[in-house]
Amino acid sequence: MNYPVLIEKALEARRRSYCPYSGFAVGAALETADGRIFLGCNIENVAFTPTNCAERTAFFNAVSRGASGFKAIAVVGGPKDAAELDFCAPCGVCRQVMEEFCVPDDFQVILAKSPSVYKVLTLAKLLPMGFGPAALG
Ligand code: THU
Repeated sequence: MNYPVLIEKALEARRRSYCPYSGFAVGAALETADGRIFLGCNIENVAFTPTNCAERTAFFNAVSRGASGFKAIAVVGGPKDAAELDFCAPCGVCRQVMEEFCVPDDFQVILAKSPSVYKVLTLAKLLPMGFGPAALG
């Protein structure tokens, strides 16, 4: 996996963000073990609660196309006209969606300010003692 390339893809996805209400644009790029990359952006709604985060858009895009075996996701976000980005951490709902489809100790979440400034965390670090599919037996 090439972190800078995955971050560039997340920045590409961010350019498609639909965020007229918050003005906060987020992009995500999700990579599978076999090297496929699926993009997602946040998609807001006038009724607010139907809003979908970039990370979940990427997962739902990938799963709806039959993908599995997710290895990493790069996330970039910030005010849409910002000259520089800060790190944007996934919300709790998105962490739970990751828990559904990923191995928490292996799945890498790359939080990036730019293709060269980023940090890598595991899902297990972001969501300790997560409630995953194994819980139901
Ligand atoms: N958002 C994401 O897409 N991902 C995150 O990790 C944090 C928040 C979106 C939701 C909403 O459209 C906007 O950012 C402000 O919360």
